Amino acid sequence: MPNIFLVGTHWGDEGKGKIVDVLSDKSTACVRFQGGHNAGHTLVIKGKKTILHLIPSGILRDSCKSIIGNGVVVSLEALIDEIDNLVTSDVQVEDKLTISEGCHIILPTHKALDIAREKSLGKKSIGTTGRGIGPAYEDKVSRQGIRLKDFEDKNFEKKLQNLVSYHNFILKNYYNDSEVPLVSVIKDLESYYSQVKKYVCNIEELLNEVVKTSGCIFEGAQGTMLDIDHGTYPYVTSSNTTFAGLLSGTGLSPTDIEYSLGITKAYTTRVGQGPFPSELDGELGKNIAKWGGEKGATTGRDRRCGWLDTKILRKSIKLNNINGIALTKLDVLDKLDKIKICLNYGEIDYNSMSVNDLEYLEMDGWQQSTSNAKSYDDLPKNAKLYIEKIEDICSTSIVLVSTGPDREQIIYRNKIFE
Ligand code: GDP
Ligand code: IMO
Ligand code: MG
Repeated sequence: MPNIFLVGTHWGDEGKGKIVDVLSDKSTACVRFQGGHNAGHTLVIKGKKTILHLIPSGILRDSCKSIIGNGVVVSLEALIDEIDNLVTSDVQVEDKLTISEGCHIILPTHKALDIAREKSLGKKSIGTTGRGIGPAYEDKVSRQGIRLKDFEDKNFEKKLQNLVSYHNFILKNYYNDSEVPLVSVIKDLESYYSQVKKYVCNIEELLNEVVKTSGCIFEGAQGTMLDIDHGTYPYVTSSNTTFAGLLSGTGLSPTDIEYSLGITKAYTTRVGQGPFPSELDGELGKNIAKWGGEKGATTGRDRRCGWLDTKILRKSIKLNNINGIALTKLDVLDKLDKIKICLNYGEIDYNSMSVNDLEYLEMDGWQQSTSNAKSYDDLPKNAKLYIEKIEDICSTSIVLVSTGPDREQIIYRNKIFE
């Protein structure tokens, strides 16, 4: 298997975790390179569900190393929680997990600032996950952030003190909110760090090594339209979720990546605020949400649903140099008699959150279950027509089709993934 960049093509929750889990069987390593515990990646193995937020989704495979690259912002508390949950479920973590010493950490004051800012924005809020992601990246960019390697610096406590005091000043004087006691921040962080220190190191050599052997998976978090530069700004996350984020978030070069796999849901969803041109805000959208279990894996919020937006898909293919697509959740459309594909629309008006000239193509549904299909030929004729129409519209092959949440519910259409 090649070194694969795996990226969500829309606004996240496309089923990345499931596809990483499927492919990690043949992988030497699985790498996260951006985002933090705002991500929620769900893996289902023989009916048992595991939700990962920070740890790469390859962790459930014994032979796959899990690496967290420098571009990820790490909440030590969330990391320890996740490790503990995995260990309780008998998953081996200790010899498999490595975390870059260059990762910036998320402080309790980052979380408090995220929540205070959202509250003050009122109706104009972004609908963040409230995990402190934005403020942590802000401090990284303003060069006052704290990296894991800074724990070993003799000036660590002073640096932390300065940053927390600055955060508390804003919390108190700008947001009129409560301050976070510095003493507890220091005490907690020191205890957390002592528990995770064994995973932290310079990962440059390890990364160069694993890409040489090939079969490495780079697991994108969020989705292309949540990219800070190319997404639906300001309704985005605070990192580059696209191909560029992989490079800066690992230090690898473009030539190390041999294949870009776009993960696309058979319909489109979004959680949080922001424009959504193909959104179905009536009964049909609610039904799709019900059939697809569309509740946020991180915050439990309802996900908004709509028809597959292929204008976005074409943009994602270009931005990420996508070679093939894994189409997920096809089974969720099983009951529909008519299915639409969103083809195009004009510029998004960010005041009214609307678009003009929405164009759709309507197709007949298949109205039979796809969840037990073992091969492409097992799929109903109209399901195949739907898949082939998407390929046509995007000039890209659909190489994997997922017809249920379980690891086994996958159809391979391309040899390199078998
Ligand atoms: P991610 O953030 O991209 O990893 O996606 P999430 O895990 O947040 O959301 C995807 C949801 O859909 C999870 O509950 C998965 O278990 C589920 N899922 C993934 N693939 C399929 C599929 O093909 N069919 C169905 N019905 N559910 C799926
Ligand atoms: P995975 O990896 C879906 C959304 C939030 C909000 C915006 C900014 O599971 O696909 P943030 O907390 O990042 O500052 O929030 O981004 N968001 C996601 N939506 N899936 C995710 O991750 C998301 N991570 C962040 O809902 O709209
Ligand atoms: Mg998710």
